[in-house]
Amino acid sequence: MAALKQAASLRGVQGRSWLDSLTLTSGKAENMASVSMGATRRSYRMVAVHAGVSGGKAVKPAQESPHDGTIKSVERVITDDESPKPGFLNGREGSAEATVSITVVGASGDLAKKKIFPALFALYYEGCLPKHFTIYGFARSKMTDEQLRELISGTLTCRIDQKENCGDKQEEFLKRCFYHSGQYSSEESFSELSRKLHEHEGGRVANRLFYLSIPPDIFVDVARSSSSAASSKNGWTRVIVEKPFGRDSESSAELTKGLKQYLNEDQIYRIDHYLGKELVENLSVLRFSNLVFEPLWSRQYIRNVQFIFSEDFGTEGRGGYFDNYGIIRDIMQNHLLQILALFAMEPPVSLDAEDIRNEKVKVLRSMRKLDMANVVIGQYKGHVRGGVKYPAYIDDKTVPNNSNTPTFAAAALFIDNARWDGVPFLMKAGKALHKRGAEIRVQFRHVPGNLYKRSFGTDLDKATNELVIRVQPDEAIYLKINNKVPGLGMRLDRSNLNLHYAARYDKEIPDAYERLILDAIEGERRLFIRSDELDAAWSLFTPLLKELEIRKVSPELYPYGSRGPVGAHYLAAKYNVRWGDNSFEPTED
Ligand code: NDP
Ligand code: BG6
Repeated sequence: MAALKQAASLRGVQGRSWLDSLTLTSGKAENMASVSMGATRRSYRMVAVHAGVSGGKAVKPAQESPHDGTIKSVERVITDDESPKPGFLNGREGSAEATVSITVVGASGDLAKKKIFPALFALYYEGCLPKHFTIYGFARSKMTDEQLRELISGTLTCRIDQKENCGDKQEEFLKRCFYHSGQYSSEESFSELSRKLHEHEGGRVANRLFYLSIPPDIFVDVARSSSSAASSKNGWTRVIVEKPFGRDSESSAELTKGLKQYLNEDQIYRIDHYLGKELVENLSVLRFSNLVFEPLWSRQYIRNVQFIFSEDFGTEGRGGYFDNYGIIRDIMQNHLLQILALFAMEPPVSLDAEDIRNEKVKVLRSMRKLDMANVVIGQYKGHVRGGVKYPAYIDDKTVPNNSNTPTFAAAALFIDNARWDGVPFLMKAGKALHKRGAEIRVQFRHVPGNLYKRSFGTDLDKATNELVIRVQPDEAIYLKINNKVPGLGMRLDRSNLNLHYAARYDKEIPDAYERLILDAIEGERRLFIRSDELDAAWSLFTPLLKELEIRKVSPELYPYGSRGPVGAHYLAAKYNVRWGDNSFEPTED
């Protein structure tokens, strides 16, 4: 452990993610590291951001330039017994303390209520917010502080494993939530908000985070008015921007240009909440800290990779938004493509945000132009099952009844680089399908000269291994292997080496928004999208989207609750691939 402590101390902030990976190693010695380093991790993350002195031992504070969030230096002696404590971020009582003010812009909306306030409460409950913090909701709707508290209180929940004092904690949290009604483009409204924030900040170093949970056409207005009238004078100011970041290359570039008139790139945190999902974050750990995987991660051993997203409900309630975007923009161009980039990138020089994002951009820029022949689109139609009538997409009142917007898409993509030449990366995303789930499937090649070939009959696919990373629900990582059925004969079957999270870990998995908001507070940009990544992602999809629109391609209809259009199966078959999500799924421990 001494060596670990020293190494961590020397590596400073950059060691953070390195510590993360240590917590996932196994074996006796490593498990010891896991426990102690795991406890250390959160306090280590905090030091990097809050420039404070914690209850630990010798600490030289991290310095962060007020507006760009860059960490200049950090040096820290890690102790085994540092566990997160509410308030430790702000350092010793009486020293120059910092405070964080979080403003949720669009607080009256669906996302704020459903995801952002619950994530903020969970962070508070877990002791991850600093001692001095204030939360403001901002929107045009007229509301009192009490009414905001009432609005959000119904969605705050405590972790299953730590229900103690849940009610008290909720009360304490709600007392620190306030509301300010104003206009998005009004500097006066934001200056009034700033005055209120200032009162709560009480002369401390004031760090300010704005979460833009509003429609994208008002992002720039808010960036302008908030940055000129409500930026922090002596701390950092950061802005989290929700998707969608444009509809195509041009509108995305326009949006970036608009935001950059008022914010530096490193103040902008473009959120893709899939990057905050536990198993997506684990992808790099799995690959880069296990000898058994990285050597196999190439065209030599991998036949195809599948990224599958499905929802068992339609666009209920969001048809107006959705019809302007469609499933390719809503899910593929961002969530699935981000996972693909993380999956396929070369090993980064380090776990620093810039090193990782550099590698992701290279993957995106190496991707072959998307061809219409490699894309299938679908739209769900009404369906009656078991006496229940399920609506068609166009039954939504906010959707035009001649809409061609795809609610399903499947695509075959290729990365033209040395590692992945010729390997199909298949994507499939759909709403109103037979089940809800998100997963990555890696299908390996056949074993050359397999001695047991005869035992697999004619279906050679059965002989190959498949690694499945089930992102949600019921998180799991399992590897399909061939195994001898116990007994005197020689019969093989297909079994799973299964890491089922619910059975292995007794902690509830945090929501993606918790991780991402915490990262934004800490100035950790690894899981946020850089503007060149965004450009590369749009460059890949824009020509296809334009072609679909110009040619008014009609989507293949599929019944609500089905497995989607049959065209998706033909597309996979074209590359000798079978979608893996219809096969046997283990959930056993
Ligand atoms: P909403 O449509 O509910 O909008 C949020 C708030 O913005 C509203 O309460 C309203 O507040 C204000 N608003 C809405 N429309 C306008 C308008 N035309 N002009 C000015 N203000 C407006 O959005 P969501 O909460 O659903 O989502 C927020 C952002 O997050 C959007 O960009 C969305 O695309 C994105 N997103 C949402 C997801 C979800 O599950 N809801 C998932 C992923 C991303 P008021 O009238 O009080 O000012
Ligand atoms: C959002 C999409 O980004 O992700 C929605 O706009 C989709 O259409 C949602 O439903 C899915 O997120 P999750 O975390 O529920 O899988």
